[in-house]
Amino acid sequence: MSNSKGIEVGVLDTGEPEKVIQSIELLHGSFAGSDRYTVARLSEELKQLDVPLYRQFFIATLRTNKEERVVGIGGVKAADWASNTHILYLSAVHPEFRNLGIGKRLVKDRVHWIRSNFSGGRVLVSTPKIERFKQFGFRQVTESCHKGRAIMLMEY
Ligand SMILES: CC(C)(COP(=O)(O)OP(=O)(O)OC[C@H]1O[C@@H](n2cnc3c(N)ncnc32)[C@H](O)[C@@H]1OP(=O)(O)O)[C@@H](O)C(=O)NCCC(=O)NCCS
Repeated sequence: MSNSKGIEVGVLDTGEPEKVIQSIELLHGSFAGSDRYTVARLSEELKQLDVPLYRQFFIATLRTNKEERVVGIGGVKAADWASNTHILYLSAVHPEFRNLGIGKRLVKDRVHWIRSNFSGGRVLVSTPKIERFKQFGFRQVTESCHKGRAIMLMEY
């Protein structure tokens, strides 16, 4: 059984092709069956962009003596239709490593990163985990719809 020991979270360096490939595979596997997340789109989406219309990914990696393996990922980007508005998206944890707190850590670290880098704004997420995101400081702003997902907002 896996545990979260030895797992580190940091920004995906898109200059490291092996990590980018593993990240695409993880996302593609986690969203299998969805025509929104083709390998072509994910490859494009993982390209880092700088402010103002920034986009970047945080990854959770497990280091063994032989290799570093990507076991979790979560994206954050600026909304292109409103200023000071950030979006959490494309979150996935490898099935072998779920329910160990990695998804939560990826949310916390992205929110912390936004708050440290942008002095005031709002963060949006679409999630079925209403109570979970309330604990992070989000409030529900739509009814739940597709697959129980609602839009949630955090203003800071
Ligand atoms: C959702 C997911 C990222 C959670 O990762 P995890 O490491 O297992 O999460 P944790 O161990 O930190 O926490 C477990 C709980 O928080 C939820 N959670 C944590 N991060 C989440 C996120 N970014 N989005 C939705 N739910 C999340 C988990 O579903 C789970 O809920 P429960 O306690 O009610 O069962 C993972 O289950 C996954 O990859 N699912 C498939 C892809 C997906 O649905 N992604 C989210 C939509 S973008």
